[in-house]
Amino acid sequence: MDFGMKNRLSRIFSPRTGRTVMLAVDHGYFQGPTTGLKNMKGILPLIPHADCLFVTRGIVRTSIDPRTDTSICLRVSGGPSILGALSNEDIIVSLEEALRLNASGVGMSIFVGAENEDRTIANLGRLVNEAVRYGMPVLAITAVGKEMVRDARYLGLACRMAAEIGAHFVKTYYCEDFERVVEGCPVPIVIAGGKKIPEWDALLMTESAIKSGASGVDMGRNIFQSDSPVGMIKAVKSIVHKGVSAKEAYKVYRGSTKTSVPAEAEDADKMEKV
Ligand code: R5P
Repeated sequence: MDFGMKNRLSRIFSPRTGRTVMLAVDHGYFQGPTTGLKNMKGILPLIPHADCLFVTRGIVRTSIDPRTDTSICLRVSGGPSILGALSNEDIIVSLEEALRLNASGVGMSIFVGAENEDRTIANLGRLVNEAVRYGMPVLAITAVGKEMVRDARYLGLACRMAAEIGAHFVKTYYCEDFERVVEGCPVPIVIAGGKKIPEWDALLMTESAIKSGASGVDMGRNIFQSDSPVGMIKAVKSIVHKGVSAKEAYKVYRGSTKTSVPAEAEDADKMEKV
C-alpha cells in the first residue's frame, strides 16, 4: 500500500484506535431535505466530533468549512431518487473531483441480490481500478433497500463480495451473529445506523457491533435526528474509541439532555452489580 492510500486511510481510521466515527449526512442525494438535514447548518456542531464526514460534493461545496480538520469521504454514486428504483445507480462523481475536494475516501452503494446487482458491482470494480491509481480508498456500501433481509448470511455475502471486488472498507448494517460477517470480510467494516431508533437501542447496537469486530460506524439518522445530536455523537464516539459500555455512553448522551435513563439501562446497571 502506498503512502497516499495509507495517509488517507489514517484520516478516516484513527491511528490511535484503528477505528472511526464517520458522520453520514449524504441522505439528501436520494431523499431530498430529510428530517435533521433540512438545513445543513444543523450538522455543523457535529463535525468536529467526527473523524470523517460521509457527504456529497454538493454539500461539501455549499455547506462545509474548508478549514475543517474532519476528513471527507465523498459519495460518488447516485441517480435514482427515493421515488424510483434505488439500485439503478451509477458513478456520478469523478476521481478528479474527489481529489480537488481533498477527499480521504470515496464511497458508493452496491446492490447485491437486487435489480442492477451486476452493474453496481461492475461499477465498484471500475471505481477501484481508477481510485487505486491515485491512492484513494474506496468504501462500498451494502444492503441498501427495505426489501433486503439483513441477516449474517446475506450481509456476509455482500460484504465479502465488496472486499473481493477491491473495496478498502465496507459499510453495512448490524445484525445478529455479526461476528460471522466480520470474520468473512478481509477489510474493515463500519456499520450504518439505519432508521432512527431510541438512543439507548442505538448505543446498544453500537456496543454490540464494536464487540463483534466492527471498526466503527458511519452513522447518520441516529445522530442528527436525536434530541441531542451532539450528546449522541459524543456517546457513540466513547464506545468506538474508548470502548465504554452502552450504559456509560448513555450517560454521555444524557449529559446534554433531560431524558431519564430507560428501564433497559437500569436493568443493565443491576446486571453489572450481580
Ligand atoms: C445510505 O446509503 C446512506 O447513504 C447513509 O450514509 C447510510 O445509510 C448511513 O446513514 P444512517 O445511519 O442514517 O443509516
